Amino acid sequence: MDPEEVVAGYERVIAPANRTTYFPLVPVRAENARIWDVKGREYIDFLSDAAVQNVGHNNPRIVMAIKEQAERLLHASFIYAFPIEPLLLAEKLVQLVPIRNAKVSFGLSGADANDGAIKFARAYTGRLTILSYMRSFYGSTYGAMSITGLDFHVRALVGELSGVHYIPFPNCYRCPFGKESGKCRFECVEYLKEKFEGEVYAEGVAALFAEAIQGDAGMVVPPENYFKRIERILDEHGILLVVDEIQSGLGRTGKWFAIEHFGVEPDIITVAKPLGGGLPISATIGRAEIMDALPPLSHAFTLSGNPTAARAALAVIEEIEEKDLVKRAERLGEKAKRRLERMKARHELIGDVRGLGLMLGVELVKDRETKERALDETKKVVWRAFELGLIVAFLQGNVLRIQPPLTIEEELLEEGLERLEEAIEDVEAGKVPDDVVKKVRGW
Ligand SMILES: Cc1ncc(COP(=O)(O)O)c(C=O)c1O
Repeated sequence: MDPEEVVAGYERVIAPANRTTYFPLVPVRAENARIWDVKGREYIDFLSDAAVQNVGHNNPRIVMAIKEQAERLLHASFIYAFPIEPLLLAEKLVQLVPIRNAKVSFGLSGADANDGAIKFARAYTGRLTILSYMRSFYGSTYGAMSITGLDFHVRALVGELSGVHYIPFPNCYRCPFGKESGKCRFECVEYLKEKFEGEVYAEGVAALFAEAIQGDAGMVVPPENYFKRIERILDEHGILLVVDEIQSGLGRTGKWFAIEHFGVEPDIITVAKPLGGGLPISATIGRAEIMDALPPLSHAFTLSGNPTAARAALAVIEEIEEKDLVKRAERLGEKAKRRLERMKARHELIGDVRGLGLMLGVELVKDRETKERALDETKKVVWRAFELGLIVAFLQGNVLRIQPPLTIEEELLEEGLERLEEAIEDVEAGKVPDDVVKKVRGW
């Protein structure tokens, strides 16, 4: 089948709300960090299906676990019965999270895990207000969409949950308070105090929702002490801290959970994306007394706790443990970051390189002084990279998203970075035509 025909088919019968387009990739086969398309072309994957393939595409351990489980007991709803696999997974997850005495609630996607967290936090505290961050992303269900700071326009079309307030995330490259990194008084923390004095009744707030590293906002890493300062204020008012680890969790940043870089203990953590190694499964994991606050069936989905997805998740965790992928992500991430910094020294288009482990962002700007976002150039870089056989996407219109599988071969990582630099060079040299910009929608 011709890729163009497939793309046209999508336009004919699939609702645009389901997806976006960066390039016409029609994948038919994948292995670790390589993808082959319908024409047999090979690509290096720096996207990992949006941070899903932490242990690599079609990882043999995951494939075997799925096959073996599907042949024996593909599904048994844990709403009515007690299949063993979700229990084994829950036992593993409560050991891994940086939360003492935790319990797990399973779902199917990151968004429903965050919906669950809203419900558990509200039920436990008896409070309705939720605090969230500008430019945050929590997913597409009503609850998750309502606490999402990014792409808020859709809420004007379809409505939203009430009682949600937003604060700015500490983005030191684009400080919302106009300060310079390292030369501020944590105005972003002061802002929260101000919020409680002038707008929001602090004792009515159930939880603050945070991504430990903002992913879709463009891989924004907060300063080291930020969350400790925020935690102090939350504790003063009995407000829970919910940390979304859907993109940053399971080893990606060089820790099991990205929040571990910042020395605070969340009350609830949500995970999904890489958990099922490609099968849909999510988990809301919180302190037991919080997770006991909702009555039976108040956050239940017929297919959640699915034994096959749970077996896949157990295999993902085993793979991360056995191959020490958390450390590998840290090591390869540092290496890739050094290479990207060298690229920055050679290319004016690169304004900032940031991230932890293999959760890296490269921000492209028209001018390093004004930091004007290089929107068209970013689209061209991503398109050219695709032509060169590299899958890389962007966020916020101008931040390249570098999130390869944690298992990527070192030579392939280097080769991918070479191709990325070549794409940047070609865009800077005016070799990529302007009409490409119309073909790339992005996010
Ligand atoms: C940080 C974060 N939270 C939640 C979600 C939503 O996850 P899902 O698409 O599985 O519902 C995403 C997806 O991109 C995400 O990056």
